[in-house]
Amino acid sequence: MPELRLEMNDPNTVRVCLLVSIVLLSCFCVKSQLTTDFYSSTCPNLLKIVRKQVKDAIKRETRMAASLLRLHFHDCFVNGCDGSVLLDGSNGEKFAGPNLNSARGFEVVDSIKRAVESQCSGVVSCADILAIAARDSVLLSGGPTWKVLLGRRDGLVANQTGSNTNIPSPFDTLDTIINKFANVGLNTIDVVALSGAHTIGSARCVTFSNRLFNFSTADAVDPTLDSTMAADLQSLCPENGDGNKTTSLDRNSIDLFDSHYFTNLVNNKGLLSSDQILFSSDEALSITKAIVEKYTDSSTFFTDFVNSMINMGNINPLTGSNGEIRKNCRVVNS
Ligand code: HEM
Ligand SMILES: *[C@@H]1O[C@H](CO)[C@@H](O)[C@H](O)[C@H]1NC(C)=O
Ligand SMILES: *[C@@H]1O[C@H](CO)[C@@H](O)[C@H](O)[C@H]1NC(C)=O
Ligand SMILES: *[C@@H]1O[C@H](CO)[C@@H](O)[C@H](O)[C@H]1NC(C)=O
Repeated sequence: MPELRLEMNDPNTVRVCLLVSIVLLSCFCVKSQLTTDFYSSTCPNLLKIVRKQVKDAIKRETRMAASLLRLHFHDCFVNGCDGSVLLDGSNGEKFAGPNLNSARGFEVVDSIKRAVESQCSGVVSCADILAIAARDSVLLSGGPTWKVLLGRRDGLVANQTGSNTNIPSPFDTLDTIINKFANVGLNTIDVVALSGAHTIGSARCVTFSNRLFNFSTADAVDPTLDSTMAADLQSLCPENGDGNKTTSLDRNSIDLFDSHYFTNLVNNKGLLSSDQILFSSDEALSITKAIVEKYTDSSTFFTDFVNSMINMGNINPLTGSNGEIRKNCRVVNS
């Protein structure tokens, strides 16, 4: 029997050490337990089913792409991507500030879930459906595509307080927004790249009218808002008017997923304060301004957006035997 030798100049020892380090690395460094082929045997047509439903929904209403993309974001930021945003009930996240009179697309999620259930019952989580629908919405709006990591399970509770505290507000400072992202493990690049989601969709007057009237003691109108656009928004959203009226987040190319959101920021044409501060705030000068400028190039933006969507989709997923596979995305199983 050969004696056990552990000298580093022994090629066998080196090989064993290498193998051990690779195994250790894969245990500690790969944070995601999600996989792209999670449903390949249990629901082989899943991606096709979801794509068709999302395509039909966008055909009925173009804005639905934006609404579905936003649901995945509002799901993931509240204690992880666990479908919690979809739960009905007065203590649900639907009644939290960021979602009330604002989050939409729940009926479309229901119809995707029904279509999925009819082919593979009790197998696919609502959290994963949101992740796939978000990807499809971006792609079908002209944006990039990526392989969606899957295997999330659905949470058993909603968290209204979590929704109110974790999801950034359009009135937050850049520091606060960066902190809220950091709290869920996302960095400053993720902040800027994911904000680029505002290249599609709409926002209500109440989310930006503070910039139009009585902005500050020094300025009636936010000085970082282009004056022609300000005048246009003032007539669209008069003081004491209908705060629920909406306008496009990217007035340059409303329904197209492109880099015009960032071009707008460079031209003082961001709609929300939280958009424009990425380029114009004092804090931005040292942190995010250069990233905004970089993303006016769409291929640079697309590459980082995909990467950040995967990061966001990896926030604290329930896996294994945690949580459940909800039968109906609106209620936990009895
Ligand atoms: C960085 C912090 C963010 C803030 C402060 C913010 C804020 C907002 C606000 C105020 C609206 C309009 C809501 C309304 O009218 O009631 C909105 C819409 C939207 N947001 Fe964000 N958002 C942020 C990040 C994100 C991220 C990370 C995504 C997705 C990756 C996203 C996707 C969207 C989309 C697609 C819409 C349009 C939805 C529709 O038309 O139905 N947002 N956001
Ligand atoms: C709700 O969210 C808050 C903020 O993230 C967190 O501190 C709290 O533990 C959450 N509650 C539940 C029941 O998950
Ligand atoms: C600013 O606010 C004050 C008090 O809230 C109001 O009386 C005034 O009309 C406002 N000014 C403008 C320009 O809207
Ligand atoms: C927006 O619409 C909702 C539901 O119809 C209503 O309850 C709310 O008061 C409206 N908000 C504003 C700011 O007008």
